[in-house]
Formats: sequence, structure tokens, C-alpha cells
Amino acid sequence: MVLTEKEMATIEDLHTQELSCVEKYKRYGQEAKDPVLRDLFADLEKKEQKHVESLEQVMKGSVPSCNVNDRDGKMYEPKATYDSMTNPEDKKNDNFLATDSIGSEKMVSGTYNTDVFAFGDSDVRKLLADIQVEEQNHAEMLYKYKTVNGMA
Ligand SMILES: [Fe+2]
Ligand SMILES: [Fe+2]
Repeated sequence: MVLTEKEMATIEDLHTQELSCVEKYKRYGQEAKDPVLRDLFADLEKKEQKHVESLEQVMKGSVPSCNVNDRDGKMYEPKATYDSMTNPEDKKNDNFLATDSIGSEKMVSGTYNTDVFAFGDSDVRKLLADIQVEEQNHAEMLYKYKTVNGMA
């Protein structure tokens, strides 16, 4: 498969965005106080790294197979760490990190939703749609974390 110039530029922008998601979750993993949230960020960092690699494959001319995974959000069941007795400053810190991450996921998901229309190849379209669903899963996991900890 050969990408047009416009398609290549679009993939490059998405790639940059995914790299910054990897970096963000790495940093947020270091900033989070709650080990449950640290684990979630570590998991998301790995998932974003997979997006980076998928896009790199497209840049090289092939499309990785995708599995339309819409279960991650559904299956995630975090245990609550924060209650009225726990450190309110830690909770405030972690609430900020989770809320800010949901904002990023929402933005990235929106970008995929728009960019998918720029591609001629059906398999690329399917891959980008699949990644978009995964970004929504990430947001769902973060939302569940907030809810169970009384942050939502
Ligand atoms: Fe991603
Ligand atoms: Fe994501």
C-alpha cells in the first residue's frame, strides 16, 4: 500500500500525538500517589505504545491486523483507594491527573474520528476506527477509576 502525501502527513501527526500520550502516561505514572492509578497509567502507557507501533507500520506501507477491542473499558474494575479518611491532598492530585487524562483521550479520539475520512484504504480506515474505540476505552477506565474513588 502506498500512502498519498496527505495521508502520510496525517499519519505523522497521529504518530506525534501517540508519542505524547506515551510520554504523558509515563510522567503521570510517576506523579500519581495511588498505586492503583499508577498501575492504570502503566497499562495505558503500554497501550499507547502499541498505537505508536501500529502507525509506524502504516508509515512503512503495511496495515497491522486489528481486533476491534471494545472490552478493556467494560472489564476494568478498579478497587477504591480513597475514602473520607484518606489524604485529601493526594486525592486532589490524583483526581487532577485522571481528569486531565480523560480530556486528552477525548481529544485524541476526536482526531481519529476526523482523520479516518482522509484515507482511501479500507484496512487503514478500519485500523484508525479500531484505535479510536480503544481511546474511548482508555477514557472509560479513567472514568471508572474516578467514580469508584468518589472523584466523578
Ligand atoms: Fe492512542
Ligand atoms: Fe488513549
